[in-house]
Amino acid sequence: MKSLQQNFKDIEDEINFLKKKNNAIILSHFYQDEDIQDIADFIGDSLDLSKKAQKNDADVIVFCGVRFMAEVAKILSPHKKVILPDMNAGCSLEESCQVNEFRKFKKKYPDHIVLSYINCSAEIKAESDIIVTSSNAGKIIESMPAKQKIIFAPDKHLGGYLNKITGRDMVLWNGTCIVHETFSERELIKMKVRADDAKIIAHPECPENILNHANFIGSTSSLLRFISTNESKRFIVATEPHIIHQMKKNEPNKEFLIAPGNDGKCSCSNCPYMELNTLEKLRDCLLNLSPEINIDNELILKAKKPLNTMLKLS
Ligand code: 13P
Ligand code: SF4
Repeated sequence: MKSLQQNFKDIEDEINFLKKKNNAIILSHFYQDEDIQDIADFIGDSLDLSKKAQKNDADVIVFCGVRFMAEVAKILSPHKKVILPDMNAGCSLEESCQVNEFRKFKKKYPDHIVLSYINCSAEIKAESDIIVTSSNAGKIIESMPAKQKIIFAPDKHLGGYLNKITGRDMVLWNGTCIVHETFSERELIKMKVRADDAKIIAHPECPENILNHANFIGSTSSLLRFISTNESKRFIVATEPHIIHQMKKNEPNKEFLIAPGNDGKCSCSNCPYMELNTLEKLRDCLLNLSPEINIDNELILKAKKPLNTMLKLS
């Protein structure tokens, strides 16, 4: 492992030096640790991050998020070096959907097209017709003929919510996000009774019994827009709580309560995968230009098609 001999004021100073030296850009999702969000050049939801990964002047993309997001950056910018602080930063949705099982599942529905949530592996993307994110899924589904039969993978809660709002009957793969599944309906109701002026906002990866209580449902970036445009002063936030850092920055005079888990207060809604990335690992990956995302060319070409279709329709 390499090391630098210079003296730096702090780790942020060192990261900024390495970033410049490597002509790198740091992209971060809203679920990353606060200190990572603060040092990033760009912060966004899955769709914004994909667009930024496709259009930037850097030679190196440092992806502070989970592995499937860094893979999307590599697929859309194959000539750039894409690194992420911890290669083990996976995702329960991605893990739930393994390609051999998925191929068997697809065979059962030969007249269906395959819509996959971006939270899946490059192999699953290559098996898909269109990729969607939580911010464009509704619009993309609505753009299809009503008779079009659709498989939706891998998130059954997002898929169920999309069926409800679009009136479709998509066949759903049985995957879930372990983070959004931890909220307790009983404790949420108790919190709402104590804070009855608060608006409940939720990510559509939450199960239906949580979404039923929400005043607003949307992707991370639309949750951020909602808290700024809604007149309410208090919000109960049913998504990964690190997003509250941006909410507080954007609306310092508003209050944000983390939706509770089963014991009424646990911070079990932190994403354990996103948490693997730390400022130290971010510094080390810029120092070593590793771990690096490598995807074989044939897979890149196959996975790029449904991603480009998404970007055209977004
Ligand atoms: P968005 O930021 O696109 O809403 O996605 C949320 C998520 O779960 C990322 O893993
Ligand atoms: Fe995956 Fe859920 Fe973590 Fe998002 S929050 S990366 S969907 S496990």
